[in-house]
Amino acid sequence: SPDGHVKILGQAYPTDATTNITSAIIDKLERRLHLNEAHPIGILRSLIERHFPTYNHLSDVSPLVTPAKNFDDLSFPADHPGRSVTDSYYINRDLMLRTHTSAHEVETFAKGERKWLLTADVYRRDEIDASHYPVFHQMEGARIFHADANSMQELAEENASLVEYLKSTNIIIEDVPHITAANPVQPTHDPRHAELVAHNLKLYLNSLMLTLFGGRKDEPLRVRWIEAYFPFTSPSYEVEVFFNGKWLEILGCGVVLQSTLERANVPDSIGWAFGLGLERIAMILYSIPDIRLFWSQDARFLSQFAPGKISTFKPYSKYPACYKDLSFWLPPAGLHQNDFCDIVREAAGDLVEDVQLIDAFTHPKTGRASQCYRINYRSMDRSLSNEEANVIHEGVKARLVENVGVEIR
Ligand code: PHE
Repeated sequence: SPDGHVKILGQAYPTDATTNITSAIIDKLERRLHLNEAHPIGILRSLIERHFPTYNHLSDVSPLVTPAKNFDDLSFPADHPGRSVTDSYYINRDLMLRTHTSAHEVETFAKGERKWLLTADVYRRDEIDASHYPVFHQMEGARIFHADANSMQELAEENASLVEYLKSTNIIIEDVPHITAANPVQPTHDPRHAELVAHNLKLYLNSLMLTLFGGRKDEPLRVRWIEAYFPFTSPSYEVEVFFNGKWLEILGCGVVLQSTLERANVPDSIGWAFGLGLERIAMILYSIPDIRLFWSQDARFLSQFAPGKISTFKPYSKYPACYKDLSFWLPPAGLHQNDFCDIVREAAGDLVEDVQLIDAFTHPKTGRASQCYRINYRSMDRSLSNEEANVIHEGVKARLVENVGVEIR
């Protein structure tokens, strides 16, 4: 707004040179799909919560966080790309939209929570296609133990009984060692404690994968563990599941960095955390072909889901695509693809299905740079006329000229 404020969830915040949140994003903040028990995202949340019945289930935490909470508290390096305005949404330099649910680790442990799940909407600037959307939902799960001999003995016993349980199920696990030189134990940890915690994490998540993907009696579920890196866990892993003939990346996890637990005032504990993306899992489980559908208000989508049930989505007819190309000379400062995509979203909303850079060149004599994007406009709910697509496309052009100073060719 002209007075340098932006209204978000009923409150006004001052803007500055960092501000890049758009109205298309602000509209999404109120939807809270994960709280809707009859929406695929809410259904999946409940399903996972039921798998962790003794954990505290949190799902009502504001998406506005300080960059310190989103990054510094989790030991992200100062130059991490996620911090940049091209990758994340900022309200102003002191306030941003969380990019992951890990942003709430320190405050949740600090409240005294020792076994918890936290579900929330998260925001990342990205390209536009059927599987990328600037808002999606994550679920963070964490558990911490007292790092003393008694608790570790109990943990060893719990792990042994989980191993026994998994032997009775139809699962094939490709594992990696809990700790390796490339995926090290933290210097302040007793390696035997870290091994027990990592093993407990793997056992819990293997059994969660059985709950989510293991419905087939005739076929074993295949789960693959991979060494990974996150700034806030060590050792770290990724989990992949073999489903419909493909390996799918499901989640990231690891042993929580001790500095996180120190910040949360629980320095004598050791624990694990995982973070999973609900849309990815829901798209696979329900056969939902386009990530925009989660935001659809159309009864033909919403009526197909019921609380507590996983069912296969039956797509209603796909309406025709309408491709429009847009060529322009770049302004001297250039134009990031994520900035281009946010301008398209502001003008077209969910009527944009896909954006592709199809050509880029620099004029040999003048040195000016030109780009051509191909935008696919398509409604999920109705047939879009060419005239309507033209009006939207003209709106995209006008915003590009006005906001970033491109010259349309
Ligand atoms: N926050 C990480 C992400 O968004 C996932 C993660 C959570 C990894 C917890 C490790 C521990 O990709």
